[in-house]
Amino acid sequence: MKASRTIFNLLLLLCCFFFKLSAQETLVNVYGRTTQSLNGKWEAIIDQYDQGRKNKIYLNKKPAGKTDFYEYAFDGGLKLNVPSDWNSQLPELKYYEGTVWYARHFDAPKTHRERLFIYFAAVSYRCKVYLNGKEIAEHEGGFTPFQVEITGLVKPSDNFLALEVNNTRTADAIPAKSFDWWNYGGITRDVMLVSTPKIFIQDYFIQLDKNHPDQINVKVKVVDKQKNVAVKVEIPELNIRQNLVTDDQGIASISMANLKKIQRWSPASPKLYQVLVSTKEDRAAEWIGFRNLAVKGTQIYLNEEPVFLKSISFHEEIPQRKGRAFSEADAMMLLSEAKALGCNMIRLAHYPQNEYTVRAAEKMGFLLWEETPIWQGIDFENQETKKKAGKMISEMVMRDKNRCAISFWGMANETQPSAARNEFLKYLIKCTKDIDSTRLITAAFDLVRFNPDKQRFVMDDPFINEIDVVAINKYMGWYHPWPVAPKKAIWDVASNKPLIISEFGAEALYGKTGDADVASSWSEDYQAQLYKDNLEMFKNIPNLNGISPWVLFDFRSPFRFHPTYQDGWNRKGLVSDQGFRKKAWYVIADYYKNIK
Ligand code: GCU
Repeated sequence: MKASRTIFNLLLLLCCFFFKLSAQETLVNVYGRTTQSLNGKWEAIIDQYDQGRKNKIYLNKKPAGKTDFYEYAFDGGLKLNVPSDWNSQLPELKYYEGTVWYARHFDAPKTHRERLFIYFAAVSYRCKVYLNGKEIAEHEGGFTPFQVEITGLVKPSDNFLALEVNNTRTADAIPAKSFDWWNYGGITRDVMLVSTPKIFIQDYFIQLDKNHPDQINVKVKVVDKQKNVAVKVEIPELNIRQNLVTDDQGIASISMANLKKIQRWSPASPKLYQVLVSTKEDRAAEWIGFRNLAVKGTQIYLNEEPVFLKSISFHEEIPQRKGRAFSEADAMMLLSEAKALGCNMIRLAHYPQNEYTVRAAEKMGFLLWEETPIWQGIDFENQETKKKAGKMISEMVMRDKNRCAISFWGMANETQPSAARNEFLKYLIKCTKDIDSTRLITAAFDLVRFNPDKQRFVMDDPFINEIDVVAINKYMGWYHPWPVAPKKAIWDVASNKPLIISEFGAEALYGKTGDADVASSWSEDYQAQLYKDNLEMFKNIPNLNGISPWVLFDFRSPFRFHPTYQDGWNRKGLVSDQGFRKKAWYVIADYYKNIK
């Protein structure tokens, strides 16, 4: 045993040395594994001129004799909270775009099992990971998890972990150079050590069959394509105990039909079942819901019932803290306001949000729309960007495919038609469906225009033929004056598909009153009247399946310049940055309460 272990470690070490370990496929349900948190105060160095890598500061050298010296030291310097963005932690970092080095020491877990990984829930925007002076991983993308195996690299105590984190916007990134939210940088979500047996449960996908409400499909994968591994899947409340064996791909699967007693998940009844997946050496437990989602003609159905989506969008941001949301408490703050508004759905804009938010939303009974930040101007001609986008959306779908609340995978937001864009987005649809073909594919478009000849709102974008549900962002009364009275604003858009209004709204400075007919007043009365006018117009959209006002909370945006009304905030929130509900909040709350 000892010898094989040493050989395994040696091989892994060689792998680290010769083939830099980029991030590996992440373990499913990491929060249900054997973990040790690395959250807390980390040492940090602001590296504005990117000198740290050249000077190998990740070696954390100390002077040895009388003549050598180092012009850096991690200990005794700046400390930053992990998780958190850096922008909200120091005034001088508010606008900072560049590199910050994070570092900390840690001991290997005493209960160290066969294998050890470091798991990062998200680092924004790109990073390199160094352990005990060796680069062991890199990752790009600010909103999806990654992990790296450190078995054989880790010492029993005093390991030195350093991250080189950079959030500089680039034209080939996702999102690219300009986007309407704050460019938060940093280790923005949890970091943890995960210990596993040598052969562990790598992944599983457990969900109600798309077309059979009495059938649960199970697919379990163990690591390293180990075959003949005994896998047990249990759902005690449904008296399900299945013993499976992995094939030569390390996969064990089963479809269990004729299950009579399944109580399907819905916003009104968000039922979750405890699911246990285990092998002789490993075990992963979590709560999973079962529901059916379908499109028939121009209607969306949940558990065979037509559903109207009473949605809202929010960014992953706590406005009072002027920083990224990252904890369970943050998730509850955002979600409880959506619940109070009467929502049954949330569009998690414009990027995969943290797992606390996704899991809490599922428990509270919200349908979810999740998307990657393919936001407006992306370099659709760039093949490297396309690969990155495919990896990013795969990381999102891999992480959340067992969350039944997720109903829509969003492919893009406000992209302009072109052959390159269509190819790029079709590739993303493929990447998504390669992992999960059970959910509805959507995308948000801002291409609806009023056609004076037809006296209709229309849209011409053939890409809508590639998706299941068409979503429209339209700011009537804000970016677009009314061409006709709201009740005469008739729509003929994607008439053969379900349509969602995925964004509408207007800015208002909380406390500003009066001038209900003057947009530049930034008044709550103008915003509230605009909401009433839009709700009037929505009556004229025959294939309307739901609405998602933009946005629940005022949020920070570097290009919202007006010194009095905006001051670096996008004020389209129904709730102000200080947590006060504006008049339009009550317009939507009343609409959602009374909509049939
Ligand atoms: C767009 C975009 C949002 C943006 C909003 C606005 O539709 O999707 O991200 O914040 O408009 O202009 O406020």
